[in-house]
Amino acid sequence: MSLPEPAARFALDPDFTVGPVDPRLFGSFVEHLGRCVYTGLHEPGHPAADEDGLRTDVLELVRELGVTAVRYPGGNFVSGHRWEDGVGPVEQRPRRLDVAWRSTETNRFGLGEFMAFLRKLGPLAEPMMALNLGTRGITEAMDLVEYANHPGGTELSDLRIAHGDKDPFGIRLWCLGNEMDGTWQTGHRTAEEYGRLAARTARALRRIDPGLELVACGSSGRGMPTFAAWEATVLAETYEVVDHVSLHAYYEETDGDRDSFLASAVDMEAFIEEVVATCDHVGARLKSPRKLTLSFDEWNVWYQRRPHPHPVEDWQEAPRLLEDVYTVTDAVVLGSLLIALLRHADRVAVACLAQLVNVIAPIMTEPGGPAWRQTTFFPFAQASRYGRGTVLDVRVTSPTYPTDRFGDVPLLHATAVRGEDGAVTVFAVNRGRNAPLPLEVALRGLDLSRVVEHSALADADPEARNTLDAPERVAPHAVEGTRVEDGVLRAVLEPMSWNVVRLV
Ligand code: AHR
Repeated sequence: MSLPEPAARFALDPDFTVGPVDPRLFGSFVEHLGRCVYTGLHEPGHPAADEDGLRTDVLELVRELGVTAVRYPGGNFVSGHRWEDGVGPVEQRPRRLDVAWRSTETNRFGLGEFMAFLRKLGPLAEPMMALNLGTRGITEAMDLVEYANHPGGTELSDLRIAHGDKDPFGIRLWCLGNEMDGTWQTGHRTAEEYGRLAARTARALRRIDPGLELVACGSSGRGMPTFAAWEATVLAETYEVVDHVSLHAYYEETDGDRDSFLASAVDMEAFIEEVVATCDHVGARLKSPRKLTLSFDEWNVWYQRRPHPHPVEDWQEAPRLLEDVYTVTDAVVLGSLLIALLRHADRVAVACLAQLVNVIAPIMTEPGGPAWRQTTFFPFAQASRYGRGTVLDVRVTSPTYPTDRFGDVPLLHATAVRGEDGAVTVFAVNRGRNAPLPLEVALRGLDLSRVVEHSALADADPEARNTLDAPERVAPHAVEGTRVEDGVLRAVLEPMSWNVVRLV
């Protein structure tokens, strides 16, 4: 380890805030992809399965993770999906080709099972349904909303009741398609085509229920050639009838450039700010009093460029796809991405870590075997637990380090959230790989005198990970010596670390 860097600092003041945190910032994503649903959430016959075939060991971990909004059923999957396949008696449900992931979909798990899963998670869990605007259109979207949300007395709402769900599901959040800008998307469209279809669908759905919250598809990545122009065109059609626009971003280390990878949140923050600027530009052009918010409904670390560890034949049921095993380095980056989302809590209303189980996921399972926490589980669970309240405006002064992709980047990435009880949690990442980073935080106008806990995720081995054989190799540890002195929080952040400092 090298000598400590000069101190990084910032000041906290309760009068300077970003805004309240929408709990849906801690959302997740369940797609019919690989083993996310089958042998992930749902495995009838598993020793831990309940009467609905849900794995109770996984349910417990999902509760501990603290997820709120859960997006379902895709992803790319949704753009070829017929929702009717997944309702009614299980033995009568069709087997279908899932062309998005070249798998066979058995439909043993569908909307009713998903809602049962959410009910078991607890009252903070909320569905976020994606609609198929790839191969389908307005009628099928209206049908699904009627089936899900209408109390009864119509063919489709009575069908739900006949399927055993007397009470309407009351699904509030709906995605108008998925990644419709991507040529890989079944039924991919131009921005003009999609914008018109999304606007018409939104108007039709609002005739059923004006209170729905609707998400228009933004770009599937900041690097898309149509990025920003896509949003401007789509929003010109949809601005007055949607509430949110979506963003998707996945990060990975490329060509061994770990320094740039550790600065991934620089890209995420720029992406958010560019989409906010585009929304506001369209709003100004339309002279609209509305302000749209963002739904960052897919984000994570994902090693898309790595070769698949073992070949997967086409049309398998629940194949092992996208089962990335995350290192402590990945967890530090994921923590920094969470900080980026919190720092923009004034405009990011919803965010979904993609995905929940087995597929680029914080939770892994073995069929017939155990479930365990990946390294990335920990920053998410801590942020969800302690990141509720109001985000304070954090302006960091920090030594920097050079990166190939982003130039000089501050070593410190940080935010702070003040809970309703006045307690404050500082979330901080030291991006530097070699040296500890002293941190000084001036606590102005805040009645804080004591550090309840300083927890850090860091490891001498940057490749350390949790696996089936060593499921508890990586976990956060307590840091000694962090203190408040004369109104200043003083801490030392280990090299390449994610930190949570709780103050009362
Ligand atoms: O999360 C995996 C995939 O990534 C989703 O299906 C798709 O929307 C995105 O490209």
